[in-house]
Amino acid sequence: MAGLVPAISLRYTRPHRINRDCRDKPGDDSTMSARIIDGKTIAADLRGKAADAVHRLRRDRGIVPGIAVVLVGDNPASEVYVRNKSKAVAEAGMHAFDQKLSSATSEAELLNIIARLNADEEVNGILVQLPLPKQIDAHKIIAAIDPAKDVDGFHPLNAGRLASGLPALAPCTPLGCVLLAKTVNESLAGLEAVVIGRSNIVGKPVAQLLLAENATVTIAHSKTNDLPSVCRRADLLVAAIGRPEMVRGDWIKPGATVIDVGINRVPREDGKSRIVGDVAYDDAASIAGAITPVPGGVGPMTIACLLLNTLRAACAQKGLPAPKV
Ligand SMILES: NC(=O)c1ccc[n+]([C@@H]2O[C@H](COP(=O)([O-])OP(=O)(O)OC[C@H]3O[C@@H](n4cnc5c(N)ncnc54)[C@H](OP(=O)(O)O)[C@@H]3O)[C@@H](O)[C@H]2O)c1
Repeated sequence: MAGLVPAISLRYTRPHRINRDCRDKPGDDSTMSARIIDGKTIAADLRGKAADAVHRLRRDRGIVPGIAVVLVGDNPASEVYVRNKSKAVAEAGMHAFDQKLSSATSEAELLNIIARLNADEEVNGILVQLPLPKQIDAHKIIAAIDPAKDVDGFHPLNAGRLASGLPALAPCTPLGCVLLAKTVNESLAGLEAVVIGRSNIVGKPVAQLLLAENATVTIAHSKTNDLPSVCRRADLLVAAIGRPEMVRGDWIKPGATVIDVGINRVPREDGKSRIVGDVAYDDAASIAGAITPVPGGVGPMTIACLLLNTLRAACAQKGLPAPKV
C-alpha cells in the first residue's frame, strides 16, 4: 500500500494549547487541553516545500509544472476557491492555464476544452471546479479528464486505484486530513479510526487513505446506529458530515485526535454569519488530545495538496520519480 500518502516530514503542529477550565464539573478542578493542529502553518510549510521542489525541477530539468483550473459560471464561492488556487499556483512557481467559462457553456463545449487540455503537454494537472451548471453532467466531465492529469483525484480510475491500494492521485482534502493526523501520530498503524461521512469527495477517500496507513477504519453515515458510541471508540475521528457542531464533546474518546472537515455557515446574533465545523469545538477540545480548528484546520491543506498532486503528476508524466517534498 505504498505511494498513497507521500512521506512528507511536517513537524509544525504548534505546541499551542488551549486550556479548558473543567470546574463546572462538580468536584473536578483539573484543566484539560487539546493541542490545536494548526492547518494554516502546516499548509504554508507544505506550499513552501512544493515551491522548493518546483524550483529544483525547473533548474535541473527545465520542467515547470502547469495546472488548468476550469471554472464554469459565476458561483461566488467557486470564484473565491479558484482565485485562491490560482494565487497558490503562481506563488509555487507553477504555470496556471485557467479557463473561465460562461454559465451557458454546454457539456459538449466543456468536453472539447477538456480534450484540448488533455492533449496539451504543458498542462500537467486539470481541475474542474464543482458544482457545474445543471446542463452539464459532472460525472461525464470528470471521466473525460486524463487520469494522469486528474489532480483532484475524482476520476473513477484514481478512485479505483486508491481503493485497490495502488499508487493514485488521491483527492486533496482527504490527503490533507491524513497529513494533519500524521503531524500528531507519525504512524497511524493500528489506530482505531472512525470517519463520519461516506461521500466520494471526502469520506470514502479519507477512509481508503487511512486504511493504506494501516489504521483500523470504520465508516459511519446517516444510517449508523448509535453514532456517539461508535465515535467514542476512535483514537482518530474524522468528521465530514456538513452538520454544524453535530459531534459533541462526550462523543470523543479522551486524548483522541479530531480532524474536522466540516465548513458550515451559521447565523450570528448580530445578523451576520460565522463558519463552524461539524464538531462542537470548545466541547471537544476539552476532551480530545489534538483537534483541528474551523477555519484554519483542514481548509488550507486542500490547496497545498493540490500543489503537491500537480507536482507529482508532472513528474510522473515526464517519467521522473516522485518529487522529494
Ligand atoms: N475543508 C475543505 O476543504 C472541505 C472540502 C470538501 C468538503 N468540506 C466540508 O465537509 C463536509 C462534508 O462534505 P461532503 O462533500 O463529504 O458532504 P456530503 O456529500 O453531503 O456527505 C455528507 C456525509 O455525511 C453523512 N451524514 C449526514 N448527516 C449525518 C448524520 N446525521 N449522521 C451521520 N452521518 C451523516 C452522510 O451520510 P449518507 O451517505 O448516509 O447520506 C454523507 O455520507 C461539508 O461541511 C463540506 O462543506 C470541506
